[in-house]
Amino acid sequence: MAFFGRNKAEAEETPLVLPKHVGIIMDGNGRWAKKRGLPRKAGHTEGARTFRKITRYCSEVGIKYLTVYAFSTENWKRPEDEVGALMKLFKSYLEEAISDFKDDDIVVRFIGDKSGFSPELRALMDENEECSRERDGMVLNIAMNYGSRDEIVRAVKSIAADVKSGALSEADITEQLISDRLYTAGQPDPDLIIRPSGEYRISNFMLWQSAYTEFVIMNKLWPDFQKSDLDEALRIYSQRNRRYGGV
Ligand code: IPE
Ligand code: IPE
Ligand code: MG
Repeated sequence: MAFFGRNKAEAEETPLVLPKHVGIIMDGNGRWAKKRGLPRKAGHTEGARTFRKITRYCSEVGIKYLTVYAFSTENWKRPEDEVGALMKLFKSYLEEAISDFKDDDIVVRFIGDKSGFSPELRALMDENEECSRERDGMVLNIAMNYGSRDEIVRAVKSIAADVKSGALSEADITEQLISDRLYTAGQPDPDLIIRPSGEYRISNFMLWQSAYTEFVIMNKLWPDFQKSDLDEALRIYSQRNRRYGGV
């Protein structure tokens, strides 16, 4: 039984409010490597290890949805060798993920524009989704070539096409309809977004979905992120008073 860093008595006194959906902006790999005099790609390798460890832990503690930001629509501007190293890393991780997350019953999904990736990577993404579809554990959304503005533009275009064809009328355009046209359709909005590396920005992550999300910024670089840091974020979240505009 996990008490998230609290002792048993504390845990019994104030029950933990567990977020249903957690988002993580996995940031700080480059700085982690730089601090050690290593190339940035060494930071990504270490960050990928952290990803595997923290994903498993989220599933263990009972999180129902986890969305990790792995590669943004803007990350293509990085030097060619860094992007190349990331693609190689994605490939080896996606190959392993097919069996890796099986024991944890994790459902793997990708959010973002898959068409930006090589046919080989796309096939691996499809295979991961296909073979985990029937599982009933935590849903893991891996955001790759994801940008929330791009996601919203796609949603608007698909709605515009339906209005043009007469399938929808202007009156049908509601907040729910827009949510239903995003990559996260059918999933609850994130309750908590954690950003390691100490940056206070959203960097094009889940803009629509995070209208009432609680943010926890942590001064730890992603490769250094431990299970105890997740405990800490969950404890902070648990103490927040969410008002949604009410009193
Ligand atoms: C996050 O770490 C990983 C990706 C964006 C792919 P960074 O590579 O952004 O690390 P910093 O922010 O430069 O330290
Ligand atoms: C956000 O981190 C994207 C991912 C973690 C995948 P960035 O490092 O790209 O964001 P900025 O440039 O600091 O805003
Ligand atoms: Mg960064």
